[in-house]
Amino acid sequence: MKLSTLFVCILVTCVVGLAGQAVADLNSLRGAHAVPETNAAPELMKFIKDKENVARTFEEQPPVVPHENEKYAINLKENKCLDCHMKQEGKDEAKSVEMSESHFIDRNGNKLDRPAGSRHFCTQCHVPQVDLPPLVGTNFQAAK
Ligand code: HEC
Ligand code: HEC
Repeated sequence: MKLSTLFVCILVTCVVGLAGQAVADLNSLRGAHAVPETNAAPELMKFIKDKENVARTFEEQPPVVPHENEKYAINLKENKCLDCHMKQEGKDEAKSVEMSESHFIDRNGNKLDRPAGSRHFCTQCHVPQVDLPPLVGTNFQAAK
């Protein structure tokens, strides 16, 4: 065997060996379970739904939802959030909670008399609130 061929063989063996080690160290979100095995279901999260508004921590932050929201359907035909989040004269205050004006402006800057399509899927931006420790450490300081 030529010396250069031998060298390439050694190099390939090292690289493949290292990559194999890296793959062995990887851990998927479902843990170290074989694919056909059933793993434990993740713990159910308890949403904070005490109707208190949770403080915003930076400017332009979409406020988190201070109430239950998993039962409100949002699809092509309907948006249950709008049952309560359209300001309407004479309607009970708790069912007529205003959205900001920004929600009535389309992407070309036109003012609309209905929520813009780009705001239809509310939960794309507004997430429910869960009391959990952060997944990773952070030294983020809320805006004052
Ligand atoms: C049954 C009526 C009702 C429905 C349906 C509803 N909400 Fe609410 N929502 C409220 C009320 C009442 C508040 C509290 C108002 C307040 O104090 O600002 C609120 C507050 C919020 C806030 C916080 C506003 C702020 O200023 O902090 C967000 C965000 C929100 N809702 C999003 C949603 C989304 C998204 C949906 C649909 C998945 C939804 N809501 C469905 C009644 C409702
Ligand atoms: C593209 C992201 C996005 C989507 C989609 C969206 N919002 Fe918002 N929303 C925001 C942001 C950002 C704010 C805070 C800044 C502002 O008021 O414009 C906000 C503010 C609000 C507020 C607080 C208003 C206030 O006066 O403080 C309510 C209530 C709300 N949204 C409800 C909704 C509902 C209901 C929907 C669905 C119909 C929705 N939003 C869709 C981003 C979004």
